[in-house]
Amino acid sequence: MHRLVDDAMQRIVAHIESLPSQPASNVEGATDRARTLIEPLPMNPTPYTRLLDFLFDEAIPRSFNAAGPGYLAFIPGGGIFHAAVADLIADAVNRYVGVCAAAPLLAQLEANVVRWFCEIIGYGEGSGGVLTSGGSLANLTAIIAARRALLGDDFQRATLYCGDQTHHAFQKAAILAGFPAANIREIHSDAMFRVRTDPLVEAIAHDRAAGLTPFMICGSAGTTATGAVDDLAALARIAKEESLWFHVDGAYGAFFLLTERGRTAMRGIEQADSVILDPHKTLFLPFGTGALVVRDAATLRRAFSMHADYLPQYQESAELIDFCELSPELSRDFRGLRVWLPLKLFGIEPFRQQLEEKLDLTEWAAAQLHTIDGLEVIAEPQLSITAFRMTRPGLDDAALDALNRDLIARINARQRVMLTGATVDGRFVIRICVVSHRTHRERMEMCMEDIRAAVAEMDPQMNAD
Ligand SMILES: Cc1ncc(COP(=O)(O)O)c(C=O)c1O
Repeated sequence: MHRLVDDAMQRIVAHIESLPSQPASNVEGATDRARTLIEPLPMNPTPYTRLLDFLFDEAIPRSFNAAGPGYLAFIPGGGIFHAAVADLIADAVNRYVGVCAAAPLLAQLEANVVRWFCEIIGYGEGSGGVLTSGGSLANLTAIIAARRALLGDDFQRATLYCGDQTHHAFQKAAILAGFPAANIREIHSDAMFRVRTDPLVEAIAHDRAAGLTPFMICGSAGTTATGAVDDLAALARIAKEESLWFHVDGAYGAFFLLTERGRTAMRGIEQADSVILDPHKTLFLPFGTGALVVRDAATLRRAFSMHADYLPQYQESAELIDFCELSPELSRDFRGLRVWLPLKLFGIEPFRQQLEEKLDLTEWAAAQLHTIDGLEVIAEPQLSITAFRMTRPGLDDAALDALNRDLIARINARQRVMLTGATVDGRFVIRICVVSHRTHRERMEMCMEDIRAAVAEMDPQMNAD
């Protein structure tokens, strides 16, 4: 055991130490190499060191450097090492936390994590939730819980409302939960990419008049494309007036509630019936760590509780939790430890400071973008995402999209940062998403240098200095 861990550890430490100097993305030819790995069930053993060499020398380097400081693409997370230690412990002791009776103290640690998340949202007594593998499964769990709370078995006439900027995981979850795709209304957003409330109210009224059953509003606490935060207080008011379930996708943004700026932007989130939040994004934990919290934990129990005589008895008291009663899962990993250990080790303050720093860095980046001739800032930061686009007089939208795809490729080719784009309002924009705990001012300066250099390369007349 020592040798296995020590040998792996040597490589892990070297890998983590070299993250800043590794290319931000290195996938050229990687899919071809991936095809060569296809093999039948292994009949013979392979030496451990050979497997480690393959992983660390070949497989891991040929990827997006999602844990590195230059990863400003998609939604980064970073993956703090202490969570990996928690996973090693959890997997090695392999205790079962699906039912409280099997490991009451460990289940309680996970229950504490859920309670802390409820506290961050501003939920009080009676709230609860579950940890999931990510935001997608948290959305699905929320929609099924809401469906079983508000609708009968025949829910084919129920309608759901989200924004045109809502992450597709919401629509996907709604369809998986059995709702017809045609019953999902995507409401247009305003100039700041937030759901417009007037068309929302009109759509609800229109559906009611047509004999449909308006059922759920989904607000975004930080959209993926531009980091936009909907007016959650207004959406909560509409949901209340219309007796709809109010769900908030805070997969990316909700942990910014730890900051003053985040609390101001997300005012009203505590009125939501359910909120998803992804520790594998803005709590810097490894992929595979999501969460759903609900204002009334009884809604989860009503939706998912089912017993069988071969299982241990469930708890009768409110403060002891059988997680299998609150979610679709029975057996699963002890994912709570991955959150519990880092939060207990450090307390919440360093996490809050990190998030403050990301908000500052994004504001700084947007201010820098404004100084680069030929670029237009499309989305000012509302949280830690900003989006921009190269403009050039006389080009139509398609030509401008092609120009911006070229720009992104040139920025990424320098391999110090990785940026990705999104289409908003029919235009392709380039995003900068600052989330990783390893991203600091020095890397953001590199990012701006690389953007300036790529712009100058494409138009030597501009930014000639
Ligand atoms: C706003 C938002 N919601 C939901 C999701 C889906 O979450 P996951 O990838 O954890 O399933 C994402 C993923 O990036 C997201 O950005």
